[in-house]
Amino acid sequence: MPYRYDLVTGKNGFWENTDPVRLADQYGSPLYVYNERILRERCREMRDLVDYPNFHVNYSAKANTNLSLLRIIREEGLYVDAMSLGEIAIEEAAGFDAKHIFFISNNVSPEEMAEVIRKGIYVGVDSVSQLEMFGQLCPGGKVCVRLNTGVGAGHNAKVVTGGHETKFGIDPELYDEMRRVSDKYGLHLTGINQHIGSGFLTSEEFLEGTRRLLEVCMDYPELETIDLGGGFGIPYHKADGQDRLDLAPLGAELSKMFKEFAAAYGREVEIKIEPGRYIVAECCVLLGTVYDTKTVYENRFAGTDLGFNVLVRPVMYDAWHDVEIYRPNGEDTGKRQVVSVVGNICESGDTIAPKRELPEILKGDLIGVMDAGAYGYSMSSNYNSRLRPAEVLITTEGEVKLIRRRDRLEDLLAGFETC
Ligand SMILES: Cc1ncc(COP(=O)(O)O)c(C=O)c1O
Repeated sequence: MPYRYDLVTGKNGFWENTDPVRLADQYGSPLYVYNERILRERCREMRDLVDYPNFHVNYSAKANTNLSLLRIIREEGLYVDAMSLGEIAIEEAAGFDAKHIFFISNNVSPEEMAEVIRKGIYVGVDSVSQLEMFGQLCPGGKVCVRLNTGVGAGHNAKVVTGGHETKFGIDPELYDEMRRVSDKYGLHLTGINQHIGSGFLTSEEFLEGTRRLLEVCMDYPELETIDLGGGFGIPYHKADGQDRLDLAPLGAELSKMFKEFAAAYGREVEIKIEPGRYIVAECCVLLGTVYDTKTVYENRFAGTDLGFNVLVRPVMYDAWHDVEIYRPNGEDTGKRQVVSVVGNICESGDTIAPKRELPEILKGDLIGVMDAGAYGYSMSSNYNSRLRPAEVLITTEGEVKLIRRRDRLEDLLAGFETC
């Protein structure tokens, strides 16, 4: 047996009929491994969140743009949002129609916005001046505005997207100016959206943000869509038994709010959410290999191929990912140690799991980084000219499919023009 079944991935059956050692042997390391069953479960949980007829889920593709995963997400009936023409191109390749893509713009160029408009994709703007740009490009058009009602929440200050300290959205002081610009170009304010931040595990802030936004929506008679953002957190500390966000009471409260709003507003406006992380984080384990173990003065290190070019979240947000250790011969040394799991990038901060108390790690072990599906591959890079990893999918039929090949050295040279 190459690994122990009392680990989180043993309990949730993540590996199905395969195992991490076989996968790393066959596809190399590091390797992003996805489980289709878990991905579909998360899509369905979001899709069934509320009891309101005109409710849709826009998957926020920035979390993970793998084409095969996007196709599964589309099959589950979700729509998508996009931040760039690049995301739109991948979403179109995954089969999403223009009418099921929502462009959430932030500081975009007129050329980019014009192209999105040309494609017939609904645009959300997040400042008065970008509304002006939209008006110039598409006078008389329908547009969504991103409001910042003052509520923010998130697992780290860098992912709080509502409130006073963020670059996002239009604050209440500017609502009159926004209407003036909208009237100047004969625009129809048919959508309102907000996003308060990412990674919350309690519902209070989301409910408060929703309540405030719905109050504001009463002042906009032409609404076709209200988009409430994403941000639903996932338990990154599963090994310690961290609770999940309790969706049932959240869904019940939202259903009640939506129905009351529809009654007061006089019609059932479409209401959307745009979760990213919740859909894709937990269906993925990132596998890496331990190539060195060492002690430097009083600190123990396990040196792996999991540099921050592969997964940047721990370095960027001090984010926690549970780690599991898989040993090809299955032997347990019975020892535990405090160890930092580090990568192979030439930076002191290149640490995936600092000072963890873990079973002893030996050279040749595999490390599994849990819940790595959101903002993992999509934030990976070629820093230190390292190759980005491959991605494989364990399908619901139990097959393993390569869904993105590992970078090749030629890829690093591909963009250079000769001089
Ligand atoms: C506008 C918007 N929508 C959706 C998301 C997705 O958030 P999450 O992945 O936390 O659900 C983000 C994240 O930054 C966002 O800014």
